[in-house]
Amino acid sequence: MEKIVVKGGYKLNGEVNISSAKNSVLPIIAASILCGDRCTIDNAPMLEDVFVICDVLKSIGADISIDKEHSKININTGTIISQAEPSSELVRKMRASFLIMGPMLSRFGRVKLSLPGGCNIGSRPIDLHLKGLNALGAKIDLGHGYVEAISKKLIGNKIYLDFPSVGATENIMMAAVLAEGETIIENSAEEPEIEDLADFLNGIGAKIEGAGTGTIKIKGVKDLNGTLHRPIYDRIEAGTYMVAAAITGSKIKINGIDEEHLKPIVAKLTECGVLMEIEGNSVWVDGRNEIKPLDIKTMPYPGFPTDMQPQMMGLLCIAEGTSLITETVFENRFMHISEMKRMGANIKIDGRSAVIEGVKRLTGSEVKATDLRAGAAMILCGLSAEGITEISDIYHVDRGYVQIEEKLRKLGAEIKRVY
Ligand code: UD1
Repeated sequence: MEKIVVKGGYKLNGEVNISSAKNSVLPIIAASILCGDRCTIDNAPMLEDVFVICDVLKSIGADISIDKEHSKININTGTIISQAEPSSELVRKMRASFLIMGPMLSRFGRVKLSLPGGCNIGSRPIDLHLKGLNALGAKIDLGHGYVEAISKKLIGNKIYLDFPSVGATENIMMAAVLAEGETIIENSAEEPEIEDLADFLNGIGAKIEGAGTGTIKIKGVKDLNGTLHRPIYDRIEAGTYMVAAAITGSKIKINGIDEEHLKPIVAKLTECGVLMEIEGNSVWVDGRNEIKPLDIKTMPYPGFPTDMQPQMMGLLCIAEGTSLITETVFENRFMHISEMKRMGANIKIDGRSAVIEGVKRLTGSEVKATDLRAGAAMILCGLSAEGITEISDIYHVDRGYVQIEEKLRKLGAEIKRVY
């Protein structure tokens, strides 16, 4: 069983380069299904989740080559077989596999998929995805463990999302690209990754306006073509390294950021005493001050991202006072708390809120990565703790962080992977 072992207490220094956003690349690879042509993704993050979505596409006939050395993915979706059903084992492995539903339905008029799996952070239903596809004219059959959608021709419609779900916005936006007429998605998710997906879709010939705002308009088109796309930087990976500087009381430079996308994270870190200096696509993060306690509420973008909640909690474990974190996006995203408590953190759960009483220092311990971001948070806690922390179930972290131990080691951390 693979583990990451961290010896805490070392200051970090130097620079780290951020990879492209996993949450952009996954829908973009799914979206390439629409064009039935050749697409290239430049500077793609070489991550487990990315390999899984590529395998899902391969299981329906796409021709994909991954050039790990140059971080490039070449996809030809012209070879996909129209009635193919993707491997259920792969679809269950990762929730984002469900993003092929919209494109498959739009291009072939039918899709049958196993119900998705993914991070263990709540029930994560798909009702909004299905409601949207149904509004475009798809007949949905929800069976035991699978869902099938059929439509001879999708027709544009006005869709109001009860909640600005990222995945539902993406699935509906992709389905609407080849639909007849105009689709308007209201209360759509505003995450930067949605805008990136729209840029890719416009690159293959779609007509989308308003992505990145609460109202997205998609004018259906008949023909699409291939394209070359370079995704945005991963704002969650950048945020994680910002916390790494803060939790170790260090100053580091992070290269590969978009200031706009990081606003909610920068605002909260600044509030707790971390100094930030942005220089173009880089940021200097100086975490040498005492960490002040904070109140955080996770919200859809541009609110504070739920994907940074566990890492911030790790930092607040050593703040000078009492902090409050309220998780509003997912109903079960506090599993890391029991792991942090093993390291001496003082945290109490009250419904959807966690009250964190700062302690002087965490103590190294044997802990588990309970999901992707929780695993990253445990590594961060290990960096600041006294002694040695062993983090098991590290495959969760590999789903979303490119070479995390190499990047941290280059910054001066004492970290290694053991098998
Ligand atoms: C995406 C991100 C994930 C991030 C999340 C919220 C990807 C690949 N993953 O996940 O990292 O944590 O956004 O920022 O981009 N919901 C429903 N019905 C639906 C769909 C969602 O009730 O049909 C609920 C979910 O249960 C959850 C909330 O909406 O409580 C947010 O989910 P959503 O925005 O859809 O997240 P994902 O797209 O799964």
